[in-house]
Amino acid sequence: MAILKIARMGHPVLGRRADEVVDPAAPAIRQLVADMAETLHDADGAGLAAPQVHVPLRLVLVGIPAERLAREGEDGDGEPLTPLINPIVTALSEDRTVGWEACLSLPGLAGYVPRFTHIHCRYQTLTGEVVEREADGFFARVLQHECDHLDGVLYPMRMDDMSRFGFVRELQQKRPEEPETTAQEAADD
Ligand code: NI
Repeated sequence: MAILKIARMGHPVLGRRADEVVDPAAPAIRQLVADMAETLHDADGAGLAAPQVHVPLRLVLVGIPAERLAREGEDGDGEPLTPLINPIVTALSEDRTVGWEACLSLPGLAGYVPRFTHIHCRYQTLTGEVVEREADGFFARVLQHECDHLDGVLYPMRMDDMSRFGFVRELQQKRPEEPETTAQEAADD
């Protein structure tokens, strides 16, 4: 296991379409997931995409502890740490929710990002099994954020109000009355 170096915005690996994982059961993929898990735990994030650790493959890792979900104002048990290989996200309706996001590739920054509220996700597991599931709320937000990384898309590119993009500390000073999720609690994905 190893903690991997995280690529920051501007690095070419974050701006390209990542390649399909040909063999999800390959030992190298299992090792990558193990290293990404250690990296994500170290960074205290909710998700990590392989391009963020300089590996241009279609693989993301997500995990949401129950207490994190509660901070986002949602009930539930959260989501166990799960690798999603070759994921495909499809919106189930046009409904969108706006919420604060952050990204390990844009340290110190946060933005208020619209995302689809209800999505379907199809992906492969580490054994190559195909899984289909639906997601909504914060989990759906994290999945969209992570899967965007596989297409070279960072969250500021999804924003429609750039006045709500900035450094977390300064955003807190600007909007101490923010009634919704605060920038401080933004998803560090
Ligand atoms: Ni990110």
